[in-house]
Amino acid sequence: MKILLFGSGAREHALYEAILKSVLIKKENIYFAQTGSFADSQIIEFLDYDELAKKALDIGIKLLIVGPETPLAEGICDIFNKYNINTIGANKYWAQLESSKSFAKQFMLNFNIKTAKYCILSDVSEIENKLKNFSYPPVIKADGLAAGKGVYLPKTFDEAKVVAKEFLNGKFSEASKKIIMEQRLFGRELSLFSLWDGKTLLNFPPACDFKRLLDNDMGENTGGMGSAFPCELLGKEKESVENYLRKLENALKHSDAKFCGIIYSGIMLCDDDVFVLEYNMRFGDPEIQSILENFRGDILDVFIKMTQGRLNEVNLCFNDEPSYCVVLASSGYPSLPKFGCEIFNLDAAVNHGVRVLFAGAKKIGNKYYTNGGRVLNLVKCGKNALFDIYKTANEIKFDGKIYRKDIRLR
Ligand code: AMP
Ligand code: GLY
Repeated sequence: MKILLFGSGAREHALYEAILKSVLIKKENIYFAQTGSFADSQIIEFLDYDELAKKALDIGIKLLIVGPETPLAEGICDIFNKYNINTIGANKYWAQLESSKSFAKQFMLNFNIKTAKYCILSDVSEIENKLKNFSYPPVIKADGLAAGKGVYLPKTFDEAKVVAKEFLNGKFSEASKKIIMEQRLFGRELSLFSLWDGKTLLNFPPACDFKRLLDNDMGENTGGMGSAFPCELLGKEKESVENYLRKLENALKHSDAKFCGIIYSGIMLCDDDVFVLEYNMRFGDPEIQSILENFRGDILDVFIKMTQGRLNEVNLCFNDEPSYCVVLASSGYPSLPKFGCEIFNLDAAVNHGVRVLFAGAKKIGNKYYTNGGRVLNLVKCGKNALFDIYKTANEIKFDGKIYRKDIRLR
C-alpha cells in the first residue's frame, strides 16, 4: 500500500513514526507533499491540489492523511475523493467547524451543545454597543483561520475595544472581517480527539496542552509548549464528557456528516460541565505527539478501517503509564524566534530513550539548525518519562533554547 502524508511539522513527524510501525506499509511507500526535516525524500511537488491528486493517482497512492487545517479548509479531501483516493480529514464543508467560528457556534446552537455566550460583529460601529452585553471583558476571536493567532483574551474592556477594532480593520485580512465576541470562561481546559467515519465517533481519552510560553501559565499564548496524556476525569466530569461526546455523535449523525476524519473538541470544564471553546478538524499539536507515543496498536490499520466505515470494530488501547511532550523553542518565540542556530547533542535523546520530533528545525548535511519557533519536541511514555525528557532537554544545546519546566498531568 502507498500513502501520502500532508504536513511537515512535529505532529506529522509523530504520525509518520507511528505509521512506520505498521505491518501494512513499507517506508518507501510513504510519500510527502511538503519537505520537512524528517521528510526529505519521496516528496511530490505540486502547484495545486488537483495536480497533487493526479500525481498521487499515477503513483498508486491509496490514502491521503492530512495534518494541518489549511488544506482541509481549502478542500483537499474533496479533490482527492474525486479521484477515488481515500482521505483522513474533513471535507471542505465540515472543515468549516474549524475555519469559521460562526459556523461552529451555529452547529453548537442547533444541537444544544454548551458554549460561551457570544455575538457576531462585522462593523466597528457595533463594538461599543455589543460590549455592553458582557459583565467581564469578552474574548475576541477572528471568525476565520489565523494560524493560531486569532484569539485574544483582553484584561479590560478598553483593551477589548482596541483589539476588536484591529481585527475588524483587517489584522488577519479576510479571516477577521467578521469577529466573535464571547464570554470569558474559567475552568480546566482539555483536548478531546475523536475519529469519525461517517457513522461512528470513536474517542480518545482527554489530553492537555500547555499553551502559555512560561511556567505556571504565564507569558504569551503559543501554539503549545507541551502536552500530557491521559488526563483523569473525576466524578461528575467523566459523566459530563461522555454526555457531551454522545451529543456530538448524534449531531454528526443527524447532520449526515459524510467525511472521514478527526474532530478535536477544545473544551473547558466549568463546575463539572462541558463548554466547547472551539472545534478543530485535525489532531492537536502537541497533544497528538503524547497520545501517539502512548498508543498500543496499528494507527494505519485504524485509518484504513475508518475509510471502510468500520470504526465500530476498533478499540483504542494505551499503555498503563502516562506520556509527555516537551517543546524546545527558540528565544523570541512566538513573535520573533531566532533562526539558523546549530543544534548540538541530539544523541542525548537516544541515551535517555527519548524520541525527538522535528518542528522548526532544518537539516543541512548531517547537521541540524533552528528554523522556526518551536524547534524540537521531546516525547516519551512511561514511569520515568518526564525525568528522562527533562534530562534530554537540558543536554541538547542550541543558542536561545527555551522550554517549560512544569509539564505534567493536570
Ligand atoms: P483557540 O485558538 O480557539 O484554541 O483559542 C485559544 C485559547 O484561548 C484556548 O485554548 C483557550 O485557552 C482560550 N479561550 C478561547 N475561548 C475562550 C473563552 N471563551 N474563555 C476563556 N478562554 C478561552
Ligand atoms: N494544541 C492546539 C492546537 O493544535 O490548536
